[in-house]
Amino acid sequence: MAEREYLVALWIRIWHWTNAALILTLGVTGMSVHFADPALPLVNFALAVRIHNTAGVLLIGAYLFFVVANIVTGNWWHFVPKPPGILQRILEQAMWYGMGVFRGEPHPHEPSKEEHFNALQAVTYWSVMYLLLPVILISGLIYLYPEFAPDTLFGFDGLLPVALTHYLAAVALLLFLLSHIYLGTTGKTVGQMFKMMITGWHEH
Ligand code: HEM
Repeated sequence: MAEREYLVALWIRIWHWTNAALILTLGVTGMSVHFADPALPLVNFALAVRIHNTAGVLLIGAYLFFVVANIVTGNWWHFVPKPPGILQRILEQAMWYGMGVFRGEPHPHEPSKEEHFNALQAVTYWSVMYLLLPVILISGLIYLYPEFAPDTLFGFDGLLPVALTHYLAAVALLLFLLSHIYLGTTGKTVGQMFKMMITGWHEH
């Protein structure tokens, strides 16, 4: 096997770091708006709202680019968790993250041109990109244009379920991000996978 292999195309890397920067910006400004305290603002309230709305609209653009580029290049296939034995492979991977990695056991999956992701990554990335992000983007868009929300729902203000969905999806995304960054350190070296997401080259 070659010592290093070019696995992550330039467009994926540009999308990935743009997406990460926008989501971090949305996280900081979203927290400023949600836990607003005039005495102790993380970011000034009015400014936080403006940055949050702008970054949100940009994130929708980045997301549409991601979906279209995935279809055009065929890269979407990497995100599909593939049988047979998918549950077994997810379990093996989870066991390795939970125990094997601390015992120095070999990684159960080696990224390759044919299969970028291990089974757990495929399921997680698919769910985040095709379930969680649409929920957060659509609820954010309705929040931005509240005239599209129903006036009332089950006797409550119609925006309440939208607000709740947006908030819970944001918490889930933040939890994903924490685990994503931690699991990113479990390559052959702590920096191996971060380096790959910058240069595109996976070092075996
Ligand atoms: C500071 C924030 C972030 C850091 C440091 C980071 C780091 C990484 C690293 C090291 C990888 C390579 C590991 C792998 O192939 O699984 C990766 C890949 C990936 N990350 Fe992130 N990430 C961040 C934010 C995000 C966010 C917010 C999302 C989605 C909402 C995301 C989605 C992805 C996806 C889909 C891949 C696979 C890309 C590919 O190879 O096709 N990342 N990230």
